Amino acid sequence: MLAQKVAVVTGAARGIGLAVARDLAASGCRVVMVGRGAEAIENAARELCDSGHQVIPHVADVTDASAVAALAARLRREFRRVDILINNAGVLLEPKDFAAPQGASVFVVDPELVTTTYTCNALAPLRLIQALVPLMRENGWGRIVNVSSSMGQLADMGGFWPAYRMSKAALNALTRLTAKELEGSPIKINSVCPGWCRTEMGGHDAVRSAADGAQGIVWAALLPDDGPSGGFFRDGKPIDW
Ligand SMILES: NC(=O)c1ccc[n+]([C@@H]2O[C@H](COP(=O)([O-])OP(=O)(O)OC[C@H]3O[C@@H](n4cnc5c(N)ncnc54)[C@H](OP(=O)(O)O)[C@@H]3O)[C@@H](O)[C@H]2O)c1
Repeated sequence: MLAQKVAVVTGAARGIGLAVARDLAASGCRVVMVGRGAEAIENAARELCDSGHQVIPHVADVTDASAVAALAARLRREFRRVDILINNAGVLLEPKDFAAPQGASVFVVDPELVTTTYTCNALAPLRLIQALVPLMRENGWGRIVNVSSSMGQLADMGGFWPAYRMSKAALNALTRLTAKELEGSPIKINSVCPGWCRTEMGGHDAVRSAADGAQGIVWAALLPDDGPSGGFFRDGKPIDW
């Protein structure tokens, strides 16, 4: 019998991360749901457990190096494996008034806010990759999904929201260079844009549900061995970097 896959989803207490955790659990994975608020992640995991899913809450702020190391140690101790890493936790800290974006101009953004955004959206995924890829290598299989955004596309870079846009462009670079170093290995990594989704980050006017956004992420998490690596996708279709 094939061993049950262990998936790690960061930022899983709500929004797209919660929908991804539910879908991966429904597809038969044991899902470690990572969140920084103990009550929120435990409540979210309890709800999924109550509906018959195998999920485990884990409290960690992904920007905290020691918390990421503790997560890796727990995965090794309790499961002896990790098969799927979904780098979903993310922040958009700039003003979100899409009708009047001047408050999120490159000319006024606080560089400290850029650093905080980078730390969560680009450096935390780097740290998680460093911590968890050794476990994937040991088991000879792995899928990594960096949850990115069209706002990070250099091919179609608009103005405003520089911290968020630059952090997602950096995340996409992380996808490309990690894929290069993993070439020929059984571990795949891709960036996925979920589209504009109705979540706390996306707001009420967004055109998609969190469940809609989750689908393309789950597709990339369960890619077959002849599937792509080092790409940028929305709904399972390649998009420009
Ligand atoms: N919604 C969209 O339209 C959209 C579009 C393109 C891309 N995305 C990307 O999709 C991903 C999920 O977004 P979402 O819309 O679901 O956002 P969301 O509703 O704001 O949820 C983000 C989740 O990430 C968690 N998180 C943030 N910082 C964290 C940290 N340091 N450690 C651990 N968890 C942390 C949050 O936890 P707390 O509750 O503790 O803050 C929250 O559970 C993000 O990477 C986002 O950039 C979203």
